[in-house]
Amino acid sequence: MRKGDAAERQFIRFTRLQRILHICMIVSFITLALTGLTLKFSYTKWAAVLSHLLGGFESAGYIHRSAAVVMFGVFTTHLVDLYRLKTRVHGSWRALLLGPSSMLPTRRDFTEFVGTLKWFVGLGKRPAYGRWTYWEKFDYFAVFWGIAVIGSTGLTLWFPVFFTRFLPGSFLNIATIIHSDEALLATGFIFTVHFFNTHLRPEKFPMDITVFTGRMPVEELQRDKPREYEALVASGKLEEKMEEAYPAIVIRAIRAFAWVALAVGFCIVLWIIYAMLFAYR
Ligand code: HEM
Repeated sequence: MRKGDAAERQFIRFTRLQRILHICMIVSFITLALTGLTLKFSYTKWAAVLSHLLGGFESAGYIHRSAAVVMFGVFTTHLVDLYRLKTRVHGSWRALLLGPSSMLPTRRDFTEFVGTLKWFVGLGKRPAYGRWTYWEKFDYFAVFWGIAVIGSTGLTLWFPVFFTRFLPGSFLNIATIIHSDEALLATGFIFTVHFFNTHLRPEKFPMDITVFTGRMPVEELQRDKPREYEALVASGKLEEKMEEAYPAIVIRAIRAFAWVALAVGFCIVLWIIYAMLFAYR
């Protein structure tokens, strides 16, 4: 049976809500990056063209704030979902945060990180990764910390009169620098390191669509996350986590969306490099 055939049964890795949240995150993040960088690099020709398409710099500012509301919505919904997961599935925060599918870094992650470096240079075998690899945990917390920093500074820029009631006015200048530099760090990281780790590494090239379909072929689970696969087989729970793959037409639509997101991300990186190297003011 070919991969992606409707009758093929695949392992469910992400819930529907997690997939929807990831898509909303992609759309809001790309919108924030495009509109924010249009303001930051307003002296480049690209920014002039883009802001013209967006209806002018003022309108880019409005679109930026609307996308920020979506991103805050994604973040809040994720926190509510974690609370629900704790109550309905794990029973306690301890079980959620310290269990085998925890996102928190552990000593084992450090061992797997060292093992991966050894594997890269041919000094060992590929580590038997579990549900979350150390780089997936790193990416997850990068977004957590990123939203806290970029979101809080963004809110001070959005509501300066309110915030300067209890903060010194100079804080607005500091917030602009932090917001602007964190924006560069976030876009630089997501569109290079995150893209490479997720889509461009040899096992996944040219892209991994698991976060959109929520499903992955069992052979891929076995190869990519052998520890998780073995635990599921040993507990007899693998079968209950299987579902039919999506039909080919849905996969094609998902791939088209992912290609657009990847292409826009790479263009943003090129734009940042161009602006920083050849036009920086
Ligand atoms: C999530 C909450 C966010 C909020 C509330 C927010 C809010 C704002 C506000 C109010 C401004 C000033 C815009 C103006 O003057 O019209 C701004 C500027 C900017 N934002 Fe955001 N933003 C957020 C997220 C982001 C993200 C995720 C990025 C990039 C990935 C980003 C990149 C930028 C950039 C580059 C600027 C221009 C800064 C400069 O002038 O140097 N923002 N943001």
